[in-house]
Amino acid sequence: MENSFKGRKVLITAGPTYEHIDPVRFIGNHSTGKMGFALAECFAQRGAKVQLVAGPTHMKAQHPSVKVTDVTTADEMYEAVKQLAAKSDIWVFAAAVADYKPKVAADRKIKKAGAELTLELVKNVDIAAALGKEKREDQFSVGFALETDNESSNAREKLLKKNLDMIVLNSLNDPGAGFKHDTNKITIIERDTTTAFELKQKSEVAQDIVNLIGERLYA
Ligand code: CTP
Repeated sequence: MENSFKGRKVLITAGPTYEHIDPVRFIGNHSTGKMGFALAECFAQRGAKVQLVAGPTHMKAQHPSVKVTDVTTADEMYEAVKQLAAKSDIWVFAAAVADYKPKVAADRKIKKAGAELTLELVKNVDIAAALGKEKREDQFSVGFALETDNESSNAREKLLKKNLDMIVLNSLNDPGAGFKHDTNKITIIERDTTTAFELKQKSEVAQDIVNLIGERLYA
């Protein structure tokens, strides 16, 4: 059990991404990176070598088998992940990647002018979906979904669209779940199985996720 991931290579994305508007401003979100870092620790404690590609967070990895690559934008996260994906056995996409970025990042600070300012946004690369197209038979991928409506069917759609083997659904309708909480209530959806868990500390949620991945891969 302890060493069930011995010799396995795990790639994890974590935290938010910041998309530059100008040199002093960005579009971001409230992701803390806690879930991704907790997963990294958990895999490492069980013998895995972990590559953690993290957007801006205050989190620090503890375990010597967790190697962190710091990135800022979705494009940087994608570049870092692409370098590591082929040599990883398991991919976990825990980052809250900004869906859109400013079409142009101004190279000078934008000065205030009229009463309105319009920012043109363009879609960011979907890292999980792009990698999903490259996934080999011997690789296993896990995504996250944060939903408010039609939770299971939306999550299931993402599972298929991004070619994931497992998707961890966080319901925003559950008090104590999601951003800014130390607790989470998850449901894990696979192609033909759904497993619901109680509200727990994020570190315990990480154990549940890693346990189930271990069961599917190495039981
Ligand atoms: N994800 C990603 N790259 C993106 C957006 C999302 O890798 N540009 C990953 C997340 O890390 C997560 C999963 O995809 O594992 C689901 O992300 P989510 O933002 O909930 O899904 P979207 O497909 O962006 O759908 P929507 O925001 O419309 O709900």
